[in-house]
Amino acid sequence: MTAPPPIEELHFDDAPNVDEVPGPRSRRLRERQRAAESSAVLYPTEMPIGFREGKGATIEDVDGNRYLDFFAGISVLNVGHANPYVAEAAAEQSHTLPHSLDFPTEPRLDLIEKLESIAPGGLAGASRVVFGGPTGSDAVEGSIKLAKQYTGNRGMVAFYGAFHGETSGAFSLSADGKYKRDYTPLLAEVEHAQYPYPFRQGVPPEEAVDRALDDVQTLLGDRYGAMPNPAGVWVEPIQGEGGVVVPPEGFMSGLRDLCDDYDVPLIVDEIQTGMGRTGEWWASDHFDVTPDAMTVGKGIGNGHPLSATVYREELDTWGPGGHTGTFRGYNVAMRAALRSIEYIEAHDLLDHATELGEYIRGRLRDVDSPLVGEVRGLGLFVGAEFVDRNGRPASDAVSEVRQRCMERGVLAWGGGRDDNVLRLLPPLVMTREQAETGLDIVCDAIEATADERI
Ligand SMILES: Cc1ncc(COP(=O)(O)O)c(C=O)c1O
Repeated sequence: MTAPPPIEELHFDDAPNVDEVPGPRSRRLRERQRAAESSAVLYPTEMPIGFREGKGATIEDVDGNRYLDFFAGISVLNVGHANPYVAEAAAEQSHTLPHSLDFPTEPRLDLIEKLESIAPGGLAGASRVVFGGPTGSDAVEGSIKLAKQYTGNRGMVAFYGAFHGETSGAFSLSADGKYKRDYTPLLAEVEHAQYPYPFRQGVPPEEAVDRALDDVQTLLGDRYGAMPNPAGVWVEPIQGEGGVVVPPEGFMSGLRDLCDDYDVPLIVDEIQTGMGRTGEWWASDHFDVTPDAMTVGKGIGNGHPLSATVYREELDTWGPGGHTGTFRGYNVAMRAALRSIEYIEAHDLLDHATELGEYIRGRLRDVDSPLVGEVRGLGLFVGAEFVDRNGRPASDAVSEVRQRCMERGVLAWGGGRDDNVLRLLPPLVMTREQAETGLDIVCDAIEATADERI
């Protein structure tokens, strides 16, 4: 393939085009799954569809229904399902050398050098990369070890509303009491601070920032605070699972200053926000903040499992064997990742994500209903928080909207501390025309749901 094809050529032309959802074949597949697979399966409980082929920002199910995809495998398929420019390189690599531990290979070094060149702020050109195995949680585990080894300390600061993954260390940083309940104790010495969330807190943005930074300051600096030996502060630059919570101006930079003052590494989790999702390569770029370490996963391999921690050179003191693992040499995903970055560059998808995101937020804000309490986000990371007449979380309304959307061929996901945030995370290759069609359906669904409640 000589050139990455334009975004207009990536999709099923006729999506959305649905008949019965879920159709008979989907229902049969779901039954087989229910009979054979773990009860821990989640996504099909709300979206009981069996998929068979994806193309760009569209996806087809086993009954031939075609959908517009507004969740992209939760921020994974940033350059679209089965992007041919990515698939070509991945297929070629799987025929030559799929796996090679951490021996030096060209796909590996090409990707590392590329990641270093697009890393945020002062990390660009002055960083090291450690691959974390396939999942984002693996990268977070790596960042925990890195921070502890470098500082010799043990304490960890994270935030309410945070999600960093489900392996023990990452789960300890996550703040999801409901799912953590059965697995405590997790790692000791983790403290959570307030994340600035003015809409939920009912306070002005500046006050939300002050409260959050005061909490962190107390943990890091007050001798009567709770943290004797902080190894790092872990933060999502925009909370994803927590409900697309964009922190007000001053939070990320204030956090950076606090970490500098107390000489504690700042670890920014860009697993959901990275790879162009927010209209910059990393959400950190929006806030002009250089992390000491940054975790990357989800969209990096565009569906090929891969994760990494990118960190300041000075932190690289752990030496050979400091962080090892079998699947840290998956060249197929590395080739896919490099091609994904090239594709984003070739088609100016950062600017496209910025413009399309503004359009989508504008459409949601134009919905004339008190059900939509707040519309938030940056680039193609969009959240709409739903509230009832009394301003309380309306999670069932989000389910209803998503159900209505699905029946008309638009797939969207939820989120938020009370599951009351509609999350729209389309592939960055979604066209303006597709977004218009999709938002007609989403806005109709919101209005119909609101009407029913009056
Ligand atoms: C910010 C963030 N960090 C970490 C993770 C965990 O990644 P994974 O599910 O690949 O383990 C997620 C997953 O949603 C995430 O959103």
